[in-house]
Parts: sequence; structure tokens; C-alpha cells
Amino acid sequence: MKTPSQEQGATSIQQSRLGGCGKICLNSKLCTLFITIAVVVIVYLFASPWSVSRVLRLSTSKTSLYPRIVFIATVDIHNVIATVDEKFLSVCLTWRRRDAWKFNATTEERLKTLTRALSPAYVRIGGTPSDFVIFRSSENPYGPLTVHIDKGDLDRISEIAQNAGWQVLFTLSLCRRLKDGSWNVTNPLKIVKYIAKKGYKFGWELGNESNHLKKFNVTLTPNQLAKDFKRLRQYLKESFPGSKPMLVGPDVTQPRGNALKYLRKFLAAGNSAINVVTWHHYYVRAQETSLHEFYQGKVLDTLLQEIKDADAVINKVSRSLPRWLGETSSASGGGAEGISDRFVAGFMWLDKLGLAARYGYKVLLRQALFYGNYSLIGEDLEPNPDYWLSLLHKKLLHKPGAVSVMAMNLYTQVEVHVKLDKELQGLDVEEYLFTPDGNITSRKMKMNNKLLKLGPDSSFPELKPHRVRSGDQLILPPLTFAYYVVPDAAAPVC
Ligand SMILES: *[C@@H]1O[C@H](CO)[C@@H](O)[C@H](O)[C@H]1NC(C)=O
Ligand SMILES: *[C@@H]1O[C@H](CO)[C@@H](O)[C@H](O)[C@H]1NC(C)=O
Ligand SMILES: *[C@@H]1O[C@H](CO)[C@@H](O)[C@H](O)[C@H]1NC(C)=O
Ligand SMILES: *[C@@H]1O[C@H](CO)[C@@H](O)[C@H](O)[C@H]1NC(C)=O
Ligand SMILES: *[C@@H]1O[C@H](CO)[C@@H](O)[C@H](O)[C@H]1NC(C)=O
Ligand SMILES: *[C@@H]1O[C@H](CO)[C@@H](O)[C@H](O)[C@H]1NC(C)=O
Repeated sequence: MKTPSQEQGATSIQQSRLGGCGKICLNSKLCTLFITIAVVVIVYLFASPWSVSRVLRLSTSKTSLYPRIVFIATVDIHNVIATVDEKFLSVCLTWRRRDAWKFNATTEERLKTLTRALSPAYVRIGGTPSDFVIFRSSENPYGPLTVHIDKGDLDRISEIAQNAGWQVLFTLSLCRRLKDGSWNVTNPLKIVKYIAKKGYKFGWELGNESNHLKKFNVTLTPNQLAKDFKRLRQYLKESFPGSKPMLVGPDVTQPRGNALKYLRKFLAAGNSAINVVTWHHYYVRAQETSLHEFYQGKVLDTLLQEIKDADAVINKVSRSLPRWLGETSSASGGGAEGISDRFVAGFMWLDKLGLAARYGYKVLLRQALFYGNYSLIGEDLEPNPDYWLSLLHKKLLHKPGAVSVMAMNLYTQVEVHVKLDKELQGLDVEEYLFTPDGNITSRKMKMNNKLLKLGPDSSFPELKPHRVRSGDQLILPPLTFAYYVVPDAAAPVC
């Protein structure tokens, strides 16, 4: 598919969603083509001359209640647009529910099964509580916000990660300041030294949304933050001689207004201390959102604008510094109740996985594995719909030689028939169609009409695609999504 951005330089948001096509190759050289077809509201389709004249035909299906659109997707299998990290889809945990990580034998087995299936990945231990962590101490310097952790907690995190095949990204607190405003490193350094002594291979972060600590009566200028990062870089060098642990940051809030300025100043002073630039992204606020926003094209497109704004700032400092979404989900403030952990959340998640990859983001850290209304796994240890989508994303993007397509239908009343064009035309397609069990607010999801559910022994169901032969239809009902894999694509870039 010709991407509008290549043809016309600056892309309008509408066009790029329709043409949303990118090739994503894994660093491991196991490379997979990957396109996002996001069919947005009808207005968008007709606003784009490119799509009207070339790819669209509106007709009425005899077999369906809904009018249908035929969407022809052409995949360019000869050029690479972006390459993602093998840990592209990664996860976040916070200290808030560490009691819930202490399982009995049965639940421990389930945890292992669920986490291992998402390997390889990073697990970021972060969020608000990490700014108030005190290691092995009876002090209560942050009042009720203080989170006491001990060696056992650090060992447990390391154990969970090792069992899963994940790498820990550990957030140190920088809220404790000395009188001259500098960082009191005494307690955080104890954690660094313990991890070094145990030989755990952690990556590191420093502070959570440090541009926004005013609510905790802490003010940190971007220059001060850059100094703190440089100090931490030095301590890491001394504590882990020869192993160059990763340090990522600054984990600012969404890049708008003052946050963008903060990011720019931080990078100008501190870019040499970090391996990766991180910022956080949420589409909406949990307390203000409503169900329909979760499948509105214009809401989904706000991510694209923020990526462009952040990239403009980062590019001024360095074009080669990798970018990650350091903490990201649908709705901030804990997730929207009855929405963020339901089928409908899949639209934001899949769109984000597609857009971020296409724009060169190497890793996404999903808030959260556990805890909150946006969790991948519920408090009952049952996977939520986004867990299943993540699992399939991991599996399908690692298929060597194959082309994988993500498609979603944002129409509420139109059925979309997808046709793969050019080199992929006439090849068999493995279809993974996701529909809710009930309506879009259901916590249960079906794949190819079979309920996705763990067995009583925590085993996964068979995740078998539906083989669609050449000439048969790929049908996306209203408000559904799918992965399509073309195993015999033999794409030269893969
Ligand atoms: C383990 O914990 C789970 C959930 O708390 C509980 O349902 C289960 O009965 C427990 N199993 C054992 C063997 O204690
Ligand atoms: C830090 O991360 C959490 C996620 O736990 C977020 O909700 C919170 O508002 C963030 N920012 C600050 C300044 O605490
Ligand atoms: C620095 O942190 C240590 C350990 O938490 C604490 O004992 C000490 O009082 C702090 N220093 C100052 C000047 O606040
Ligand atoms: C911040 O300072 C104000 C005024 O001193 C105080 O009332 C408030 O409780 C403090 N907030 C926190 C989170 O410490
Ligand atoms: C979900 O959100 C509601 C309302 O904000 C909150 O009361 C509830 O505790 C949240 N659930 C979880 C699992 O965090
Ligand atoms: C979805 O189904 C549930 C349970 O049947 C119902 O309470 C809810 O109102 C329905 N929501 C929508 C958006 O149709």
C-alpha cells in the first residue's frame, strides 16, 4: 500500500489512518510485514480522494443485515518502514498490589503460564508508588504515601521476571531532596547495590512523570532532573562494572504544552545519560470518558498528533535516540470502569500497537499487567480481552516470512470485506476474527466464534486460525477486529 506520508510529505490524520500501512521487522531478523487497516467513520473515507477512487466500493450484501464496504489493502512487501524491538509489547506493574503477587501453588502456576506467554518483554515497576518507595527502613518520610519494600520484594520481582523470561525496568524514587535541592541518593542507592550484589539484570528508570510532581509538593526543574539522571548513570557504572545497564527516561506525562517544553529542556541537558526516551500516553481520562470514545477515529488519532509533537522535540536533540511509550493505556486515572478491561478496549490497544510501530516507536509499556480497570489480567487471574490480543500479537508478529495484517472495523452499522491486493492476492489467509461474547462491553471475547478461556489447569485453548482460501471473503462485522496472516507471502524484506 502506498502510504500517504511517503507520497505527500505531511499526512493528514484521516489519510494516514486509512493508508496505515507499515512493515515492521523484528530486530531478531525474524521479520514480519504488518499493516494496520483502520476503517474509520464514513466521513473520513469520503474525505480521502485516494481511497474513494481506488479502494472503495459501497454495496449491499444479500447475506447480511448491514451494508458492506469492500476495502482493498495493498501491501508493499519490498520496503521497510520501521523496525521494532523484540520486546515491543511490554507491561507495567506498580507496588500498589504487591500483596497480590504472593500466590499459592495453583495461582502461581497460572501466573507463570500467563506471563511466560508474553515473553520476551520488559516489565516496568513504576507508577506513582515508586516515587515513594523506601527500602528496608522504619522511616515514613512521605507520610501515608510511603511504600516500604524489602529484599524479599526485590527477589520476588526478579523471580516473576525470570520465570516469565522478562527483563525488569526498576523505577527509583527521586522525591527525597536535600536542602540545596539535590537528590538524596542514600536510600535509592541501597536498592541499586542490593540488585548488583544479587547479580539481577535490571534496567533502570528514575521517577514517574517528574514534570508533574507539584501535587506532591515536589518541584523538579528539567535541568535538575538531567543532573539526577547523570548521577544515576555514574552510580550504575560503578555498581555494575562492565555490564552497562540500561537507563531510560524521563517518563514525562503526555507531550503537550508545558510537558513538551520540559521534555525539550531535559533532553538538551541530559540526553547523554539515557539509552531511550520515554513519555506516557493515554487517550482519555477515566472519569470523563464514555463508551463511544473508545472506537472513535478522532480520539484514536490524538496519539498520532502526540507522537509527531514529541518526535519533533526529540529529533532536535537526536534522531537516533530510540523512543518508547514508557507507560500507556486507554484511560488515565486507573482505567474506565466497565470499558478499559472489556472487548471495546481492543480498538485503542490495536490502533496504538499499529500506529506506534509505524512511527518508529520501539517498545510500548502497557499499563498495567495487574491492577486497575485497564489491567491485562483481572484480579481473579482471568485474562481480559486485551491480554488475548497481546498474546496473539506476540505470536503472529514472530512468524518468519509471513505477512500479518491487523484490521479493525470502526463502523457501527457497516460490514467491511477486506481484500488483499498485489502480491498477496490469491494467497490463503489465516484469519483470527475477534468478536465479543455478548456486546462490546463484555469481558469475554470469542476468536473465530470460540470463547477464549483458560482451562481448569490454566492451559491455553488452541489458538487456531480459520483458513480462508483464495477467493473467499474476509469479513469484518461492525465493531470487530482481526489479525490476518498470509503464511506464504515470501516477502523479500523478511
Ligand atoms: C489458591 O488461591 C486461589 C485464589 O485465591 C484459591 O481459589 C485456591 O483455592 C487456592 N488454592 C490452594 C491450593 O490453596
Ligand atoms: C505516575 O504513574 C501513575 C501510574 O501509576 C499515574 O497514574 C500517575 O498519575 C503518575 N504521575 C505522578 C506525578 O504521580
Ligand atoms: C537522606 O535519606 C536518608 C535515607 O532515607 C535519610 O536517613 C536522611 O535523613 C536523608 N537526608 C536528608 C538531609 O534529608
Ligand atoms: C503540600 O503542602 C501543603 C502546604 O504546606 C500541605 O497542606 C499539603 O498537605 C502538602 N501535600 C502533600 C501531598 O504533601
Ligand atoms: C475501577 O474503577 C472504579 C471507579 O473508579 C473503582 O472504584 C474500582 O476500584 C476500580 N477497579 C479496580 C480493579 O481498580
Ligand atoms: C451490554 O450487555 C449488558 C449485559 O447484557 C447490558 O447491561 C449493557 O447495557 C449492554 N451494553 C450495551 C452498550 O449494549
